[in-house]
Amino acid sequence: MKHFLSVNDVADPDALIRKAIGMKHQALSSGSRPGAGKRIGLLFFNPSLRTRISTQIAAQNLGMEVMVLNADRENWALEFTDGAVMDGATVEHIKDAARVLGRYFDILGVRTFPSLRNKEEDYSEHVLNQFVRYAGIPVVSLESATLHPLQSLADLITISEHFSENRKPRVVLTWAPHIKPLPQCVANSFAQWVLAWNKAELVIAHPQGYELDEAFMQGAAVTHRQEEALQAADFVYVKNWSSVRNYGQLLPVSENWMLTLEKLKITRNARVMHCLPVRRNVELSDEVLDSPASLVTEQASNRVWAAQAVLAEILVALR
Ligand code: CP
Repeated sequence: MKHFLSVNDVADPDALIRKAIGMKHQALSSGSRPGAGKRIGLLFFNPSLRTRISTQIAAQNLGMEVMVLNADRENWALEFTDGAVMDGATVEHIKDAARVLGRYFDILGVRTFPSLRNKEEDYSEHVLNQFVRYAGIPVVSLESATLHPLQSLADLITISEHFSENRKPRVVLTWAPHIKPLPQCVANSFAQWVLAWNKAELVIAHPQGYELDEAFMQGAAVTHRQEEALQAADFVYVKNWSSVRNYGQLLPVSENWMLTLEKLKITRNARVMHCLPVRRNVELSDEVLDSPASLVTEQASNRVWAAQAVLAEILVALR
């Protein structure tokens, strides 16, 4: 694996899931340190709890040296426009910064959220792709403008661990309310991974106007009726996202889309997933999050093994 920007960088998603689960079972007992002598830099242009910590633990488990830069406040203000006359607020061009980082590190992780103002620019991965272009080393997405592949890999690890029947599980991705517009990354990425994995039946439920970008959801069933989707569900993945069509906007929704224990009764004892952080009693009720149905802490825990499996694959390619 050269870069890890989406499921398209993974030759066999199921093999990567099984590799991560194998690493989890081995934990640190093997003493293997394939990352010894290698250094990873983690650049965060946006806040993070899980991605920041789990990726550091994963890299350290592999024997790597890790450095974290809070690029939003500790870095020179970066310019991303080619040919810009830099007589304004930006101090350093991405070309120069990424080339330098490529000399300091063996692998670079980058978190860069979308602006939610310019769809064309966000969906071109304007920022992440410039790190790929100029750093000259493998780049791992720590969540980009459109996708969150490390989260999705952890999600599929979690589903694999909690489903043992000899059939495809019914997995429902349902929109949830929120007080402010959020990116579509987690939903895009989850849909893309489930469809590429091809070991689950995916149903996406959302109110009118919250259609995801076609590029990520081809092959999924879509409904605007949450209760219809929840019937016989084995897993319910709850997530808010802002409108793609009315880019980055919150549209009025008359029905209550927050998942409750009452709504869960029509599922097949479904387990409930969310990437976290979650706004309790807005996106998901306390009663669901604190119930045995909730897998949210398991998902966050599996972020370590997702990152470790990905970094291990990249280290193989670096040898
Ligand atoms: N789910 C997730 O990516 O969490 P953080 O934003 O805290 O990293």
